[in-house]
Amino acid sequence: MSRQITLAVALAFIGAAAQAEVAPQQVAYGEYGAIETSLSGTPGDPKAGAEVMADRGLGNCVACHAVGALDEVPFHGEVGPPLDGAADRWAEADLRGIVANAR
Ligand code: HEC
Repeated sequence: MSRQITLAVALAFIGAAAQAEVAPQQVAYGEYGAIETSLSGTPGDPKAGAEVMADRGLGNCVACHAVGALDEVPFHGEVGPPLDGAADRWAEADLRGIVANAR
């Protein structure tokens, strides 16, 4: 009996996790490219984000953007605008759209 309940609870969690994550083809962009709700269902992680931005095999954002907080990482590019203060210039939904769709 309790084993059945455990299984039901586990399946409910798996269902919730699957629902929270949005597949790439299912991302809904607003008229100007914003994405209103989280695509992963989990809050952002600044430390993991900094690693993705700096890592040449992951986001490699510094190849095109100067990022003040990553000054220990060499060779910041100038193809895109510096990202310092981007959170003051853009709403969260806009930033989500910019990063999800590299147009
Ligand atoms: C190949 C070069 C390149 C890479 C790599 C790149 N970007 Fe960009 N990014 C650009 C360019 C160019 C723009 C300006 C686009 C425009 O003005 O329409 C831009 C714009 C942006 C903006 C808007 C900035 C502003 O103030 O207007 C954000 C935020 C951004 N990029 C985030 C990122 C993140 C995060 C990554 C890594 C996951 C990344 N970019 C990787 C070239 C790049």
